[in-house]
Amino acid sequence: MIMDNLQSIQEKALKQIEEAGALDALNDVRVAILGKKGELTSVLKGMKDVAAEERPKIGTLVNECRDKIEAALEDAKERLESAAMDERLKREKIDVTLPADKKALGHRHPNTIALEELERIFIGMGYEVVEGPEIEKDYYNFEALNIPEGHPAKDEQDTFYINGDILLRTQTSGTQVHEMEKGRLPIKMISPGRVFRADEVDATHSPSFHQVEGLVIDKNISFSDLKGTLALFARELFGEDTKVKFRPHHFPFTEPSAEMDVSCFKCHGKGCRFCKGEGWIEILGCGMVHPHVLEMSGIDPDEYTGFAFGVGLERIALLKYEIDDMRLLYENDIRFLNQF
Ligand code: DAH
Repeated sequence: MIMDNLQSIQEKALKQIEEAGALDALNDVRVAILGKKGELTSVLKGMKDVAAEERPKIGTLVNECRDKIEAALEDAKERLESAAMDERLKREKIDVTLPADKKALGHRHPNTIALEELERIFIGMGYEVVEGPEIEKDYYNFEALNIPEGHPAKDEQDTFYINGDILLRTQTSGTQVHEMEKGRLPIKMISPGRVFRADEVDATHSPSFHQVEGLVIDKNISFSDLKGTLALFARELFGEDTKVKFRPHHFPFTEPSAEMDVSCFKCHGKGCRFCKGEGWIEILGCGMVHPHVLEMSGIDPDEYTGFAFGVGLERIALLKYEIDDMRLLYENDIRFLNQF
């Protein structure tokens, strides 16, 4: 009677195990047969009613039956797990030959592009690139550049003062003085940097912008060196057929002083909207370093002469990339910057 029962439990269990299509269904089978209230478990519980001499034989049979069922469960579990893994791998298949997503690369700011271009040109002519402080003493920003107390040029450059003597530099020209004071001659340097003026923001003004200062000091430097250097610079920057024109001007720290215009690279001098019909575009201030400025920095003007120039970096960027509003350079709108 027990033996028939065992036989039928085993057959049923093996059949159900074979038919179980998933791991949870297999687990249900295990619980139904081997669980606390499972069919085989209840047979085991019934062993106490079996006659003592029959017990070892029946016990062996029950154990054999349980071993078989457990082995079948184990096999089925392995089979189902490996099928589940195959299924998952198929689902998660990655096609390594698919083209990758295009990663957006950053762009250099037009100011940076213009600065790197300028540096490339002057480094090519043997210039050194130096930096000066943005927070400056009145002496370096004005006094040592021949702009004493009460000089009208001091009012023209609306200055952010930190206290009576310390200010945010209004021009990079102070780096000229720092370089000259080092006492290492000759000097051939450019110095790019940020400058500050108490200006309202509009299409052509900003309270903070950038200049690139230039200074050459050596024996026998003349105005023709200045002209040759800046004409070459203009041709490198705006194209081989660019012409330059020097107009007399006044800066306190140079004598004589000039402003340099370049022939309009849009209309080549005919006159267009870009150059406001002039055919020429002003791009920088320059001049021979004033003897008084040399003297104040400890250089003998009878032995050494030099020239200096100052370029507005934004002005170059706006011209070169035909941008008509300076504010675009500071807003950092990705849609704008993406174009460079
Ligand atoms: N510092 C002048 C300015 O901010 C620009 C300038 C003009 C610099 C003539 C120079 C120079 O070195 O020689 O307007």
